Amino acid sequence: MVPEYRIAGPEDGLPVLLIHGFPFDHTQWAPQIEAFSTTRRVIAMDLRGQGATPLGEGGLFIEFLVDDVIDLLDHLELERVCVCGLSMGGYVALRLVDRHPARVHGLILCDTRAEADTNEGRVGRAAAVKTIRERGMAELAEGLMPKLFPAAELEARTEAVVSVRRMIERADPEGAIHALAAMASRLDLTERLASIDTPCLVVVGSEDALTPPDLARALKAAIPGAALAVIEGAGHVSNLSHPDAFNAAVEPFLASL
Ligand code: MLT
Repeated sequence: MVPEYRIAGPEDGLPVLLIHGFPFDHTQWAPQIEAFSTTRRVIAMDLRGQGATPLGEGGLFIEFLVDDVIDLLDHLELERVCVCGLSMGGYVALRLVDRHPARVHGLILCDTRAEADTNEGRVGRAAAVKTIRERGMAELAEGLMPKLFPAAELEARTEAVVSVRRMIERADPEGAIHALAAMASRLDLTERLASIDTPCLVVVGSEDALTPPDLARALKAAIPGAALAVIEGAGHVSNLSHPDAFNAAVEPFLASL
């Protein structure tokens, strides 16, 4: 399925595909679409079941999301792109480069991990599905927000905090439930990291509680030639809460491709 997407920037610019986290949509990337599209061809997609992309029929696996990325690249007639994924978007990006290395020209892994869910993580996914079924997305947001942002930022109700809460509350419950199942069933890709043969930048918020800097350091160490950028003061949604620092970290990497 060709997912819904927003595209901006010059047609001959370096193609950069942005893949959002859970349970967000492409608007998560608003500051990057604006900054990077001055010289690059920026494509921000909605993952299946999230944003404007329909869930389709049957179950959901990370594999289907990777297939959708390939359908999108074919639809746009793009042989290769630089892929930038945050958290769940990073799971998709990592599996994409694993299955289709020739389509990935550069890899930016933000606030994400290569490991599969732990037992505890899977129990948490099941509990989140129950929360959505019984009490809805607003209740899911209530539990998730303190994990996505440092306490002070949450209290200050910054623009990023307000926009993330809105994204979660408007997300399709059925899509979110399927995304949780897809994340719970994803492969552990740690053993495959050594064979990644594309330029890679790992980005992490220094205060990321869900995928902390130590995980990012391990990810960087396992991917040959990878670089690491730590966004000081940022939590899990580092691109949206600290856009200037995030963009300043990513810009030289894009320029090097
Ligand atoms: C995300 O931001 O995409 C999620 O935190 C990923 C996850 O729940 O594993």
